[in-house]
Amino acid sequence: MTEVSSALGLAPDQVRTVLESASLAPSVHNSQPWRFRLLPDRIELHADAERRLPATDPDARELRLACGAALFNLRVALQGLEVRPLVSLLPGQAAPGALATVRRGGTMRPDDETRALLRAIPARRTNRRPFFESGVDGRQRHALVRAAELERSWLHVAGAREQVARIKYLVRRAHQIQLEDPGVQAELRSLTGHRPGALDGVPPASAGVSPEAQDEWAFRDFHPGANHDRLPGKDYESNPLVVVVCSHYEGPLGELQAGQAMQRVLLTATTLGLAASFLSQPIEVRSVREELRRELGGVLVPQTVLRVGFSSPVPATPRRPVTELLLEPNRAVN
Ligand SMILES: Cc1cc2nc3c(=O)[nH]c(=O)nc-3n(C[C@H](O)[C@H](O)[C@H](O)COP(=O)(O)O)c2cc1C
Repeated sequence: MTEVSSALGLAPDQVRTVLESASLAPSVHNSQPWRFRLLPDRIELHADAERRLPATDPDARELRLACGAALFNLRVALQGLEVRPLVSLLPGQAAPGALATVRRGGTMRPDDETRALLRAIPARRTNRRPFFESGVDGRQRHALVRAAELERSWLHVAGAREQVARIKYLVRRAHQIQLEDPGVQAELRSLTGHRPGALDGVPPASAGVSPEAQDEWAFRDFHPGANHDRLPGKDYESNPLVVVVCSHYEGPLGELQAGQAMQRVLLTATTLGLAASFLSQPIEVRSVREELRRELGGVLVPQTVLRVGFSSPVPATPRRPVTELLLEPNRAVN
């Protein structure tokens, strides 16, 4: 097992803290598809191709979103240690195979916003429970939009009820297509349900509630039969805030930026006391994603759909230890 070494002038314990923060990022089915290589002058972020879910995520888009989210956490954690992170996305020959490298760009004092984001990293959760009816106000919406913009991406807020209804329809369509796809269902089963001692996947306590006939939104059934916190016959909130994190262009670079934006939006939501969950089916099914893109005007590239509101707390999901995430300094990556 590779030990945590020093990097960027930080002691091994500090590096461990930074990587633990990175690994608290969200990922599809909590697959944690990231690896890190520690060198004296840089930390490299790599995708863990073995943890990709090819049926659910055929283009590895969500893998790169998750890695982008881990990169955002890593940046914030470094800032918390007064290190200014210098990030290169897709660095090419400078770090073969890496999605990003992070170097030390001098020292800095974290501002209040950075400190709040840092506190939000361990507090953030995907919350699949029904949300309360109370709405997200204009100031909070503005903060979420700004969070995406700061990361060179765009947050589309589905404003009109008709647009929310059309997105809801696209979620249902894509959900139905995935229900009939044995590969997608096998990947869901492989990372959900009772898996005692597992350090990845979505445990039953985080699964939310099982779908019921009256539901308008099509959520994934992570744990069939789970209906805690659900009043019988009660649907989800009637008017959730639905937002779409978009990149300005297609491809890995846009996805890595969108992943950082997604995480900044989610952490900002956490600082505001907001809960969020994902509705990824219309992103994962290619034909439906094109329809969603047209729905948003045809220019922006939709990367992830989020539902945002107020809810009760949910437990944390597990993470693998940092030592399992390390690539040996000289080992080639597949
Ligand atoms: C790109 C992406 C897509 C996701 N899609 C879904 C989804 O469609 N439904 C869902 O319930 N959770 C979805 N999730 C949330 C993950 O299941 C969650 O991040 C993971 O289980 C870890 O839990 P945590 O977010 O509470 O730390 C997605 C996460 C990411 C990063």
